[in-house]
Amino acid sequence: MTRKEFIERVGLGASALLLPACLGGLSSCSGVNAFPAAPTNVDFTLDVSTGALATKGGYLINAGVIVARTLANQFIAVSAACTHQGSTVEFIGSGSYFYCPRHGATYSTSGAVTGGPASQSLASYKTSLNGTSLRVFS
Ligand code: FES
Repeated sequence: MTRKEFIERVGLGASALLLPACLGGLSSCSGVNAFPAAPTNVDFTLDVSTGALATKGGYLINAGVIVARTLANQFIAVSAACTHQGSTVEFIGSGSYFYCPRHGATYSTSGAVTGGPASQSLASYKTSLNGTSLRVFS
């Protein structure tokens, strides 16, 4: 067997091993990665008198939603899963934007993409403050 024949056989063998995985719909083959979908039917209440939301620029994640208190003292809520490959985004309080630490995507406070590689916005949710009780809902 020549070197060329060996490489061709090994290469074909490796392809044959990977083919079933690709046919099975693994994300690494399709180019589209499966990740948590944006939560729907969101409706929960948080106490903002203590914890992360008691401080301007603070944030927390609840039920797949990232809730943040901006420096302007407003509450915002968007889906916590980056639309690129699903990593959990963070809120950068000092700059009032969402940031994905995995590949660096950035989103505005409304969830709109401001920097790639993400191309789709984060789902946004409504907030309503009643005293120290913050309702987050769809
Ligand atoms: S997973 Fe968020 S930028 Fe890639």
